[in-house]
Amino acid sequence: MEQFELEDPLPDGAYNIGLIYNLKKGIRTKVIDEEAEYDSIDTITAIKSALASKGHNVVLLEADRALPENLKKARIDIAFNIAEGIGGRCREAQVPAMLDFFGIPYTGSDSATLLIALDKAMTKKFLSPLKIRTPRFALFAPGDIIRKPRLQYPVIIKPNAEGSSKGISDSSIVMSYDELREVLDRNFRLYGCPMMAEEYIEGREFTVGLLGNKGDIRVFPPMEIIFKKKNGKNFSIYSYNVKQNYEEYIEYKCPADLTPEQEKEMVRMSETIFNALGCRDSARIDYRMSEDGKIYFLEINPLPGLAPGYSDYPMLAEYSGIGYVDLINGILGAALNRLGMKDRGDQAR
Ligand SMILES: Nc1ncnc2c1ncn2[C@@H]1O[C@H](COP(=O)(O)OP(=O)(O)OP(=O)(O)O)[C@@H](O)[C@H]1O
Ligand SMILES: [Mg+2]
Repeated sequence: MEQFELEDPLPDGAYNIGLIYNLKKGIRTKVIDEEAEYDSIDTITAIKSALASKGHNVVLLEADRALPENLKKARIDIAFNIAEGIGGRCREAQVPAMLDFFGIPYTGSDSATLLIALDKAMTKKFLSPLKIRTPRFALFAPGDIIRKPRLQYPVIIKPNAEGSSKGISDSSIVMSYDELREVLDRNFRLYGCPMMAEEYIEGREFTVGLLGNKGDIRVFPPMEIIFKKKNGKNFSIYSYNVKQNYEEYIEYKCPADLTPEQEKEMVRMSETIFNALGCRDSARIDYRMSEDGKIYFLEINPLPGLAPGYSDYPMLAEYSGIGYVDLINGILGAALNRLGMKDRGDQAR
């Protein structure tokens, strides 16, 4: 198709990049956060501009059923993958699997890593030999008989394989078995997917960003998510509503106020988790610290949100002096390095 044809050959070191994404469409369903994980046109445009500013040609490719055909037409050198995929716990793995099938290189982790990391229970099991401290949990699927879990209340109930706090609201924390059943029933009706019931860690919250690859990883200093006011039965959670209205609820502090030992431990845990899961190029990891100072791993995002001025990952980079354009080209650069491709974006054009 004409729209995919390059008019002139690109200068040496600049690439024809396919930016693969799932766009928010404003679809209305019974829940407000149906498309929480998808990207807005502003984010897609910002990534495109950041890459184009270094001389690359950027083709926009939506991760829908036409993607295989469009990939053939676009003849890209590399994909910049931010696609969330379409449904199920394997959704984030769909596009990387397709790219591997076609032999097209791409930024970010492969399908195996994305599959495990999206599934919170599987990630915890995968990491258990490494003795990473993480809250105890039980998993429930629609249709299951809900037996009393051996967990200490309060317990938080969240979708086992979602992100962007989809399905996490003020009513996600339960104080008893009766409440747990009530919330599970409601969530199964609304979201129709397996739910994790996890011991709630009262305390501070942190997030850590990583850029690069094993042996050459830059770990951005931990950022604290400080709750200005409580939500949800007098608890503090970074729920979907809080993320949407972060100015009202949250103050970000980076670098976080931690002792050198605590910061070292969080950084070390982050590198261990990143490497154990075989993450590539970029990721963001969430932690809580209990009131007695123990650090608990909550979950990892190997496809961290990249919404400028909103997502935590660009915020973490910014605090380390890496602006948005450099961050996006840094992710690409990490991939090019890993793939043994020339990284000459800066010199091109
Ligand atoms: N076990 C827990 N104890 C305390 N708070 C928790 C726990 N699990 C989740 N939370 C709260 O809920 C928020 C969202 O949970 P989590 O990070 O697991 O979901 P997510 O949708 O994968 O997030 P992301 O937007 O980072 O992809 C956390 O940032 C935290 O505030
Ligand atoms: Mg999270």
